[in-house]
Amino acid sequence: MNFSSHALHSPVAVFDSGFGGLTVLRALRAQLPDEDFFYFADTRYFPYGERPAEFLRERCVAIAQSLQRAGAKALVIACNTASAVAAEAIRAAVSVPVIALEPGVKPAAESSRNGRIGVLATQRTLESERFQRLLGTYGQGREVFGQACTGLADAIENDGPASARVAALLDRYVTPLAALQVDTVVLGCTHYPWASAEIARRLPPETRLVDTGEAVARQLTRRLQAEHCAGGGHSRLLAGASVEPATLAEKIERLWGAPLPLIFWSPQALPEYSA
Ligand code: DGL
Repeated sequence: MNFSSHALHSPVAVFDSGFGGLTVLRALRAQLPDEDFFYFADTRYFPYGERPAEFLRERCVAIAQSLQRAGAKALVIACNTASAVAAEAIRAAVSVPVIALEPGVKPAAESSRNGRIGVLATQRTLESERFQRLLGTYGQGREVFGQACTGLADAIENDGPASARVAALLDRYVTPLAALQVDTVVLGCTHYPWASAEIARRLPPETRLVDTGEAVARQLTRRLQAEHCAGGGHSRLLAGASVEPATLAEKIERLWGAPLPLIFWSPQALPEYSA
């Protein structure tokens, strides 16, 4: 597949393990109306959160290389877990600009008044060296409480943010943060903004939730301008998934609020991608 066969003009490719990255895509499309987008959900291996780092690194490099060969002009890793373990390897493997998400510890540290911050993320993200470096740089003089939310991305994607499974997991992971008196909570996984109302309900009303979608859109704008490759598209959108798309329609509509044009796309199954 080449993106031009789907009428996309050198799109920005955005990828995640599943449909959490759509929370980022929403911000990208709002700020960059002159770009086309290809969104890839690696649903075959969803969720990434507890998979071995080495596997994720290889898989994400293969995805990034395939997206570049298919004609993407920039990549947004709309998955904190993938960024945490694979951002460096991806940057080394492709020549297009790569924007990698990371939990918003920096904005949280800047805006917290009492210096007590909660970070909700996958286990793989919290354990990563990249996250430890982020804490070392921006967490100095702050109390940062990392909470691994095992199963939460899966429950949001498969059962929906308003489901009983999500409610039970949020009672377990979010309610204790209120007792720790955090005034700022970082949504360190792109699936969690889908459940921000449910998360907010378990915290005192003045608690600030930090979602990095808009900051990523600003970063992408600057980067495309610096590389002289901004614009040329019309906010056209195509999505790909690595399992049979028909099984995904209901989940997507529940989160995105509308159907997405969706094709089967797998980085490994396409011989034309071999260099
Ligand atoms: N949406 C992903 C993230 O931002 C991860 C969810 C998962 O696959 O475990 O970390």
